[in-house]
Amino acid sequence: MSDRVIPLVDQRLSGLVARVPERAIPATGLLGDTLGRPLRDLRISVTDRCNFRCSYCMPKSIFDKDYQYLPHSDLLSFEEITRIARQFVAHGVQKIRLTGGEPLLRKHLEILIEQLSALRTTEDKPLDITLTTNGSLLRKKAAALKAAGLQRVTVSLDGLDDAVFRAMNDVDFPVADVLDGIAAAQDAGLGPIKVNMVVKRGTNEDQILPMARHFKGSGVTLRFIEYMDVGATNGWRMDEVLPSAEVVQRIHAELPLVQLDPSAPGETAERWGYADGTGEIGVISSVTQAFCSDCNRARLSTEGKLYLCLFASQGHDLRALVRGQANDEQLASAIGQIWQGRDDRYSEFRASLPPDASTGGRRVEMSYIGG
Ligand code: GTP
Ligand code: 5AD
Ligand code: SF4
Ligand code: SF4
Repeated sequence: MSDRVIPLVDQRLSGLVARVPERAIPATGLLGDTLGRPLRDLRISVTDRCNFRCSYCMPKSIFDKDYQYLPHSDLLSFEEITRIARQFVAHGVQKIRLTGGEPLLRKHLEILIEQLSALRTTEDKPLDITLTTNGSLLRKKAAALKAAGLQRVTVSLDGLDDAVFRAMNDVDFPVADVLDGIAAAQDAGLGPIKVNMVVKRGTNEDQILPMARHFKGSGVTLRFIEYMDVGATNGWRMDEVLPSAEVVQRIHAELPLVQLDPSAPGETAERWGYADGTGEIGVISSVTQAFCSDCNRARLSTEGKLYLCLFASQGHDLRALVRGQANDEQLASAIGQIWQGRDDRYSEFRASLPPDASTGGRRVEMSYIGG
């Protein structure tokens, strides 16, 4: 018998029932939550699988060969995703991000992108459709993704040094192949490209400057993400978080920076430009400087649960409505009611606690709801 530790609670198994409200909540594009935050950004996870095992996201000790991924019949079909997304767009969503796991592992993803790119915002504009990928399959897929209507990609990359990168992805994947994937995305016109680097103190902090130098002047925007206490399996510790202010200081000492204005309300990254005009970087500081006050992001899990926060422990089961009798108007009303009841602001809440206090509850994994 295996002595592997099985998590006692699997958050995927519990969920909140999504109900059709008695009074219709028509999709006007003007929805607000309890804190007055609009709904603008929908992040859709298309698979809970990934070919990497980054220790901060899918540690091998849990996500091993015995780990039970969702069966295919539990996943939303492309038609179901598009039907749900259409209601979100009617409620005001302007940007859709496809995530995973690794979204490029979902077969025929181009078909979903084609369907989503036919949607129009409430102002009759095309959506901003983007995707977060680890880059391993980009060389193979960039051209087809572009042809299907994908506008841009964000690539996760935690270091330039091959040994550091192989250790971070924990499957010995070479950095050269990800850099080649980024080049393929650039050639295919999937820009402006962003690269996201999760910084862990003591693990890849020595990669901050090499990464900054490498992408400076390349047209790619590099963003540094504070290591977050998302999920329940990564063994997060505050002393492994390197505050963004320190990242900015370290870069500024070598490559002078000036702070830039935000480019959109509610955005995750604080922007800094190189003083010599050769591009910009971003820092995403969910731990040291929460950005919940204007968070306009909703997350749809692979099997159709709506999560109102990256740190939520339960989602609202929209799949039951879609596979049941609900018509589009009822589905839109149900989504509207859930958003109107939203009061989540986990990162602000965490910031008000002593550094090592437990925040309780078992949070959903990022590989399941997407970054
Ligand atoms: P752009 O439109 O390209 O600027 O995208 P974005 O910054 O909204 O999204 P992206 O997925 O690139 O976000 C980068 C990282 O920020 C994610 O991988 C997460 O680690 C983190 N992040 C994104 N959204 C949230 C959020 O709502 N809350 C918290 N705490 N972290 C987030
Ligand atoms: N902390 C910060 N970012 C994380 N990601 C996944 N897990 C974490 C974590 N614990 C983000 C990374 C990766 C994206 C898919 O999710 O940005 O690039
Ligand atoms: Fe996969 Fe991205 Fe998670 Fe790494 S961070 S394990 S690449 S989903
Ligand atoms: Fe939004 Fe939750 Fe992240 Fe705050 S912690 S920014 S509410 S997803």
